[in-house]
Amino acid sequence: MKIDGMPTRTIRIAADGRTVEVIDQTKLPFAFEILQLRDVEDAADAIERMVVRGAPLIGATAAYGVALAMADDPSTENLNAACDRLIGTRPTAMNLRWAVFEMKSFLERLPVEERKDSAYRRAAEICDEDVEINASIGRNGLGLIQEIAARKPQGEPVNILTHCNAGWLATVDWGTATSPIYLAHGRGTPVHVWVDETRPRNQGAALTAYELGHEGVPHTVIPDNTGGHLMQHGQVDLVITGSDRTSANGDVCNKIGTYLKALAARDNDVPFYVALPSPTIDFSLTDGVAEIPIEQRSGDEVSKMTGLAEDGTVRTVEIVSCGSPVANYAFDVTPARLVTGLITEAGICEASLDGIAGLFPDRAETGR
Ligand code: MRU
Repeated sequence: MKIDGMPTRTIRIAADGRTVEVIDQTKLPFAFEILQLRDVEDAADAIERMVVRGAPLIGATAAYGVALAMADDPSTENLNAACDRLIGTRPTAMNLRWAVFEMKSFLERLPVEERKDSAYRRAAEICDEDVEINASIGRNGLGLIQEIAARKPQGEPVNILTHCNAGWLATVDWGTATSPIYLAHGRGTPVHVWVDETRPRNQGAALTAYELGHEGVPHTVIPDNTGGHLMQHGQVDLVITGSDRTSANGDVCNKIGTYLKALAARDNDVPFYVALPSPTIDFSLTDGVAEIPIEQRSGDEVSKMTGLAEDGTVRTVEIVSCGSPVANYAFDVTPARLVTGLITEAGICEASLDGIAGLFPDRAETGR
């Protein structure tokens, strides 16, 4: 997708052929800065500090983290240590585990002298595959938007609500939830996106709004509590969110607050779709509500806010009464029964064991 008209990916290799370059998302939307990752510790730190975030981009960064480790020391001992370090960075996103497992199982079969080049090649493939997968999600979800547009008076936009950032900044390119939106917009179907600000880290206000703005997609940022009201008044035609991990039975883990949107959508007969690549599916779990680990992050993310002050400096301020305890659960799980359908690279399916297994029979069979 584009920044100031320039096609940009979220992760790339620098001119030296070794260093990994990412967009520092902690600086957006007020500054666009590229950060260089020179070793596996830099990659792990970037994931932990949410310089890179969003399940697919976390996976892509971890894959390159393994490559950086192999460039330093391709021994099996170092491969295992690098994979353990990366896996420990964030507990919820399935793509992290998937990508590290892919890299490890591929590299441990190779002689040590081949590991560095092969690791960079496989990491690049994982990135390219992510772009292809997301493009397919766009094509598969496009029909949902076009069907709604066809039922509306000519020229009236399809109003789509999304939560968090499941856009291209959360992936290598295209995004998941945003991919059908970008495609519909590009093909001239009028769309308008309600962007949940997504407290506490404001991925909607800071990132989704930023990328939709750069692509010229009409959108409005709303406080997180607004969606239910808009749905009651017929102002939301469709909800599309992303996912950090979806269990084999279709329970969807996503940014905290997604579950409440799904409840409001059900009460108001608004279709609630989740767009996700297959590496987000955890085929080993059949009860996402009980089994998906929910990351708890620092209370500072709740008690402080960062923004652009009137003097043009970026400042962080306290917003909670001094001394009050805070809780910061980063994700919640929406039960499959509240999900209208899953939009994947292989097609749209019911959020259920049978629905998912129908699209991905081999992975369902092996449980991996
Ligand atoms: O904590 P984050 O910013 O990594 O959470 C990201 C989300 O919840 C996204 O919605 C999810 O990863 C889907 S991204 C395509």
